[in-house]
Amino acid sequence: MSKTILITGGAGFIGSHVVREFVLKYPSSHIINLDALTYAGNLENLKDIEDKPNYTFVKADITDAAKINSIFQEYQPDGIIHLAAESHVDRSITNPLEFVMTNVIGTVNLLNAAKDIWADNYEGKRFHHVSTDEVYGTLGETGLFTEETSYDPHSPYSASKASSDHFVRAYADTYGLPVVITNCSNNYGPNHFPEKLIPLCIHNIIHKKPLPIYGDGKFTRDWLFVIDHAKAIDLVFHKGNLGESYNVGGFNEWQNIDLVKELCKQMDEKLGRAVGESAQLITFVKDRPGHDLRYAIDASKINTELGYEPSVTFEQGLSKTIDWFLANQDWLDNVTSGDYQSYYKKQYIGS
Ligand code: NAD
Ligand code: DAU
Repeated sequence: MSKTILITGGAGFIGSHVVREFVLKYPSSHIINLDALTYAGNLENLKDIEDKPNYTFVKADITDAAKINSIFQEYQPDGIIHLAAESHVDRSITNPLEFVMTNVIGTVNLLNAAKDIWADNYEGKRFHHVSTDEVYGTLGETGLFTEETSYDPHSPYSASKASSDHFVRAYADTYGLPVVITNCSNNYGPNHFPEKLIPLCIHNIIHKKPLPIYGDGKFTRDWLFVIDHAKAIDLVFHKGNLGESYNVGGFNEWQNIDLVKELCKQMDEKLGRAVGESAQLITFVKDRPGHDLRYAIDASKINTELGYEPSVTFEQGLSKTIDWFLANQDWLDNVTSGDYQSYYKKQYIGS
């Protein structure tokens, strides 16, 4: 085996696509997926690659420093790709401390473990921290986030991710740790947990349930197909300049209301429903507190320096996503049973 690469959060939405990309593309590397399997982690996401000889799953919580240290001692990873996190803004509003524990303390535990096993010998080593565009705060109606935009987080989630980014940079500056950071916009695609806007609406359209739109629906996000994010991570992990950040996005802005209408249109066609039927499910609900108006990424740096281009258009990506959810309704039923029901009731029905 040429390299050992440890990926945290590999059972989650984006992490599972990153793990698959690395396991299949680098058969001579040993890929370790370290994940606590919270409500968002699901090994079903990796069924197709779980028997590959270069893949190992380790169940562990990144807030448990002793366990993380012993795993690092045992496997001696050359590279870390860190995705494990609490990732949902609405949950961060009801339970901020959990976000501090996983996203801040958990990240520092990983940085310490990497620093200890690499012991100042950083040749061929790399710590890639996967972050978000939400650290930059919100844009008005114009402008884009660049790598130079000041951090200005507004939710407990984005504050915890901003804090973790600062720790990663501090470990580079203080201890010389070889780090890279990616800050990506909103992802969508197969295996997306249905607490987030697109999969939640796909699930509700299938079951003819209300489609909850926060506020006036004019909030804007920049959407990227998840496999294109995984490809960007591969590129930056292998070719990004140490100590630098790379913004990742699709130059693909949508207001929430227009996006949900497009989703309704495509799903009516695929489900053989009457034109306009699903759009009747759209329901405006109370706004998210501290809701950021607009995110939009300037992805020129990763494009010009590393030659990155998304591989699908939004129309293609959305169509593939809907097809995946329609073909995998067992997956959707499994993740929306149990705890999801009580989360959904509290978030949308208020009890
Ligand atoms: P997700 O919530 O789907 O998955 C998170 C994974 O982390 C799960 O498998 C979960 O079990 C694991 N995890 C959570 N707490 C853990 C802990 N204490 N120890 C070990 N594992 C733990 O998240 P996602 O949407 O796939 O996001 C992955 C990463 O990418 C996050 O760091 C997120 O901030 C970042 N990101 C997400 C998006 C997006 O649109 N989803 C965009 C940009 C950046
Ligand atoms: O920008 C990157 C971020 O994108 C990631 O860092 C986060 O992990 C990820 O969850 C995502 O955050 P958002 O808050 O943008 O995603 P979410 O799907 O929760 O919401 C998208 C938009 O849709 C946002 O403006 C809020 C709105 N929304 C969301 C839900 C769940 C609704 O109008 N109704 C809803 O029910």
